[in-house]
Amino acid sequence: MNDARTFEPVVRWGVLGTGLVLEKLGPSLRLARGVDCVAIASRDHARATAAAAAHGIAQAYQGYDQLLDDPAIDVVLNALHNGLHCEWTVRALAAGKHVLCEKPLGRGLVEVEEMYQAAARHDRWLLEGFMYRFHPQWRAVDNLIASGAIGQLQHLRAAYLGRGRERKNPRYRRDTGGGVLLDLGCYCVNVLRRFAGTEPQRVRGHARCDDETGVDLTFAGMLEFPRGLSGHFSTSFESAGLYGLDIIGTDGRLHVPHPWRPPAWPAELCLSRDGTTETVVVDADGKPQDPLLPFVLEIEHLSDCVRRGQPPRYPDGADAQRDAHHNARVLDQLAADAGLKTTTGG
Ligand SMILES: NC(=O)c1ccc[n+]([C@@H]2O[C@H](COP(=O)([O-])OP(=O)(O)OC[C@H]3O[C@@H](n4cnc5c(N)ncnc54)[C@H](OP(=O)(O)O)[C@@H]3O)[C@@H](O)[C@H]2O)c1
Repeated sequence: MNDARTFEPVVRWGVLGTGLVLEKLGPSLRLARGVDCVAIASRDHARATAAAAAHGIAQAYQGYDQLLDDPAIDVVLNALHNGLHCEWTVRALAAGKHVLCEKPLGRGLVEVEEMYQAAARHDRWLLEGFMYRFHPQWRAVDNLIASGAIGQLQHLRAAYLGRGRERKNPRYRRDTGGGVLLDLGCYCVNVLRRFAGTEPQRVRGHARCDDETGVDLTFAGMLEFPRGLSGHFSTSFESAGLYGLDIIGTDGRLHVPHPWRPPAWPAELCLSRDGTTETVVVDADGKPQDPLLPFVLEIEHLSDCVRRGQPPRYPDGADAQRDAHHNARVLDQLAADAGLKTTTGG
């Protein structure tokens, strides 16, 4: 079947899980061009049925296996908690599906390697769901840096702090891949590596953990990149909200107030130099100015990769597989330096 707007073959998606992220992913799947979300699965039948009704999805399955057995599905969106990313991504790939798996792809490099080995074995695409990278604001940031607006990069500073979810959420359990480093720190590490354009030579990590569970609730990290470029980040489940990325150069500073999910359009950047600060409004290239745009572009990109047989790349051209490997490696190094126990041995 072809899409009525684009005349391209429709790519059919199925979703595993009915958690909070579905509030973003459900509407985004409906907005994406050339995409039909045909099924959703939950452990619980009533939850699957309610989610299907809420998001206009035709089929509700009880049990994730049922969805993987559906031959109508081309791409599986794994929106389960982190402890189920590896198992159900590998199973989906083995069932012949391409997979968009929510961040962080695995609980460590060991799982990420297992997932990409499965993708290669079954000749399917796998993409880590770093939707933030699809936001058009990054092109504007890249252009400003390339134009020399802030001189030579010296320091990168990322923050993703907030109050967190209710205590029974899987984010507060070790066996489900909980902890703030994996949940929010994965974004910070990703954006620091993206702007460094290389991998850190050394990392330092400091964690404050829950006394009872040992899960990290606050994490601060330092990444030392070649040529003296340094990256710092802080992230927390237990503090007042703070979001932002500062890119500091020899001649100025670029502040991205909403690196992870801009709440409204147009997105704005702050450029400070010579004692003054100017606001740079991001041109969305004529794209609809919907806050869900990064999710929509991510879904459309993987669908295009499926249609064209091309491997997933982030909009800056980065190879998604290579990026996922390096991100997981750095997260492992930070966890080890902070003395965190992992659930996978990775
Ligand atoms: N890209 C983004 O902006 C973004 C935003 C938020 C979250 N995420 C990612 O999306 C994933 C899901 O996050 P969420 O906030 O939607 O999580 P959540 O609300 O905690 O949902 C957890 C999901 O795991 C499933 N699950 C299976 N076994 C479970 C168990 N024993 N206990 C609890 N849940 C269980 C649940 O599905 P059923 O009960 O329906 O089977 C549910 O869909 C995470 O990997 C997270 O990092 C991404």
